[in-house]
Order: sequence, then structure tokens, then C-alpha cells
Amino acid sequence: MKIFIDTANLDEVAEIASWGILDGVTTNPSLVAKEGKDFKETVTKMCEYVPEVSAQVTATDHEGMIKQAEEYSGWHKHIVVKVPMVKDGLKTIAYCKSKGIKTNCTLVFSANQAILAAKAGATMLSPFIGRLDDAGQDGMELIAEIVSIWKNYDFDTEVLVASTRHPRHIIEAAEIGADICTIPFKILEKMPVHPLTTSGLKRFMDDWEKVKS
Ligand code: E4P
Repeated sequence: MKIFIDTANLDEVAEIASWGILDGVTTNPSLVAKEGKDFKETVTKMCEYVPEVSAQVTATDHEGMIKQAEEYSGWHKHIVVKVPMVKDGLKTIAYCKSKGIKTNCTLVFSANQAILAAKAGATMLSPFIGRLDDAGQDGMELIAEIVSIWKNYDFDTEVLVASTRHPRHIIEAAEIGADICTIPFKILEKMPVHPLTTSGLKRFMDDWEKVKS
């Protein structure tokens, strides 16, 4: 399973990339607005750390989306154009596919939407599981449904588990066989930590103190 970080903060990307486990980055307009930095500069710099960086179009019509897709994909070869799951988004994904531009279909909340994104030629698609959980639906069930549908066909669109909220989400996504998980920095920081590792290391160090000359 590929691991992406869900952030628009360059320092967070640099830190997690330094662990040697990072495969990509997802950004979105809300994350970019939170950081308040230049969008182009931020995502282009991120491309130096990882091979896939999602940059979301903000136009809402097909023409505008195509214009932004062409612009963003020209910034760096690692850019993946993020396109919302709407009808104009599907047209844009199909256009990008014909031009060899990678896409991430975002705001996916149903298996029907996932099938359409794959048919249109999305490189990856992002079901938002945390937001489904928030709405009283089991988000991980959607991932299981999509992955099971994928087993019947030869769709090469990668299933990217987005809107993850806690470390269990990552384990469950891996058990189901999702291709990618995008994870906020705060959750990534929790993943290497276990209290028995912490106490075990302390005991080793305390014992070493007693014998070293
Ligand atoms: C994914 O690409 C999105 O940026 C993100 O995972 C959304 O997460 P949220 O529901 O926590 O905002």
C-alpha cells in the first residue's frame, strides 16, 4: 500500500519523507488556505520529495478545469491533477487521460461514482471515509465495496483512502487491500509509537547505563 500525506505544509512533507516511507502528497483548497502560502510554489516544491502530488482544480466548469489541469501539469511531472466527482469533472478526467495527465478524482462517496471515475480514466480516486463516518455511514465499507468490485474487472484506477481520522483506518484499509492511504501528519506521527517500544527502549538504555564503563 502506498502512503501519502494529506497536507499543504512543506515541513510536514519533508519530515515524513525523511522517514523513507512516503509515496505521495494530497492537498486540497482547504489545506492550502490553512497554510496561506503560494499554491504553485508549495506543490512544486513538494514534487522534489515524492513522485505524486495532488493539486486540486478550483474551476467548476469543464473549460476552466481543463485550463487549470494543463497549467498545473506543466509545473512539474509529479503533479496529479485533482478533479471533483461532478459531470464536468468526469469530462475533464477523460480529457486528461487522452493527454497523458494523471488525475485524482476527489469527493467520492459512492461505488457508482467510483465506477464512473474509473471508466473516465482517473489515475486514482479518493473516497472520503471520515466524512462518511461523520454522516453516520461506515466509510470503510465503501472501500471494501469498491475493492471488491475492482476484483471483477481490469480497472487500473488506484483506490486512495482519504479523510482518514485515526491509525485503525490505515490498518483496515491495508487489510481490505486499498492501493493508497492519505494520512494527516498528526496520525502519521502516532503510527511508529507503541508504549511497549517506549518502555522497552528505556529499560535497555537504563541497563546499558549500569554496565558501560
Ligand atoms: C483527500 O485528498 C482530502 O484532502 C482529505 O483526505 C479530506 O480529509 P478531511 O475530510 O479530513 O478534510
